Amino acid sequence: MSPADHSPFSEGGLLERIPAMVKPCYELGDIPPMGSVPEQMYASVIRPERYGPPVDAFEIERLPVPELGRGQILVLVMAAGINYNNVWSALGSPLDVIAARAKAGDLSGFHIGGSEGSGVVWAVGEGVRDVKVGSEVVLSGLQWDETAADIRLGADPVLSTTQAVWGYENNYGSFAQFTVVDEYQCHPKPANLTWEEAACFMLTGATAYRQLLGWPPHTVRPGDPVLIWGGAGGLGSMAIQIVRLYGGIPIAVISDESRAEHCMRLGAEGVINRKEFDHWGRLPDVLDDEAMARWTHGARTFGRRIWDILGERRSPRIVLEHSGQDTIPTSMYVCDSGGMVVICGGTSGYNADLDLRHLWMRQKRLQGSHYANSRECREVTELVGSGRLDPCLSWCGELADVGRAHQLMRDNVHPPGNMAVLVNAPHTGLRDLESTLAALTPA
Ligand SMILES: NC(=O)c1ccc[n+]([C@@H]2O[C@H](COP(=O)([O-])OP(=O)(O)OC[C@H]3O[C@@H](n4cnc5c(N)ncnc54)[C@H](OP(=O)(O)O)[C@@H]3O)[C@@H](O)[C@H]2O)c1
Repeated sequence: MSPADHSPFSEGGLLERIPAMVKPCYELGDIPPMGSVPEQMYASVIRPERYGPPVDAFEIERLPVPELGRGQILVLVMAAGINYNNVWSALGSPLDVIAARAKAGDLSGFHIGGSEGSGVVWAVGEGVRDVKVGSEVVLSGLQWDETAADIRLGADPVLSTTQAVWGYENNYGSFAQFTVVDEYQCHPKPANLTWEEAACFMLTGATAYRQLLGWPPHTVRPGDPVLIWGGAGGLGSMAIQIVRLYGGIPIAVISDESRAEHCMRLGAEGVINRKEFDHWGRLPDVLDDEAMARWTHGARTFGRRIWDILGERRSPRIVLEHSGQDTIPTSMYVCDSGGMVVICGGTSGYNADLDLRHLWMRQKRLQGSHYANSRECREVTELVGSGRLDPCLSWCGELADVGRAHQLMRDNVHPPGNMAVLVNAPHTGLRDLESTLAALTPA
């Protein structure tokens, strides 16, 4: 089946699926007449009383379709991408997203996650200029107030005091039949992608893109070695490819040999299995000579593995970080003099130790990076649309699988690459998660 055949809006698809009357609520995959909005929708919902392991935190509920505001778009969601941020929402930690919104006056008491997705524009609010009902779109995940004073004065919207992640800090994400987004979040869906491919790459792809290309002068240059933690993860899979596209040499870290082939296929020069080392976590006290010597031995041996892969004694000019507490000391140690460690997350913890001597004596840079602006999102979409960047869809389930997919991510046993769920898109050729995982395990 070609990707175009997969669309319910391709020839012969939409008409058969449109029921004669508008109903108050539609079953998943049962599409209302174009542009008509039912009162209610199904969504995968988190409530405070379910905070805990993701597998138990999400439940499908029937809720009112959200209202449209000025400059906003109502999208009929076809597919939604799975990301780590809704592991945090499910746990209710480090941010209780529902309580945080309550403080700001939103007393809805529930959370609909999902910070990326693909779908069809179903209705547009007042003031929307460029997006039309019926357009097929890919959704980016950061929201801001376009009228904010800092943006009016020229700030990159990602740095605006008003920025917040849709489907994480803000409610009504893509794990629902309908979602509300701002107009600038809509990017044209590349026609060659299935709904699930279009739904799975934006968050990790654009975040990695900004990390690797958004912080001059530390942008990937031809020949630059780049160390990528979690090479088989969502960010890592996109980062390996972006580094190669820009002429750099990606070196991927993994925790299981079964992930090596995925990283090599995407273009990694080599992989390092972090399970062969044990110096992870916070730094020992600087006065504890014995512990410090043990730690330095671990970090040096890790660094030598990079040289072995490169075939010469060169250190990474850029280190792509997101694992945080466990790995920051090593990242800062192995990063080249004058190089940059660029970090967008802290999966293993937030108290990251830093031996300041490595920072100043070798004049390294530790740079925070968060998601991406509209230009970066559009550039990534075009790279994927033109076939130069593989969206790396590893598995696609259904809306009812949202909790299970996040649980696998939390347990770090998810398949390499990016995952998605179908919401309204037709359920064809899905492979269940167990058989996907079984196929990845070497016999
Ligand atoms: N700020 C932003 O805009 C933004 C955007 C995207 C993601 N993030 C954050 O970035 C992190 C990763 O996201 P992702 O989508 O890439 O998740 P992912 O698909 O789960 O991949 C992360 C990878 O990190 C590796 N990892 C896990 N624990 C580790 C540890 N203790 N030490 C070293 N490596 C470890 C794992 O690979 P191995 O076990 O094979 O090493 C895992 O596959 C999350 O914390 C997420 O919230 C932030």
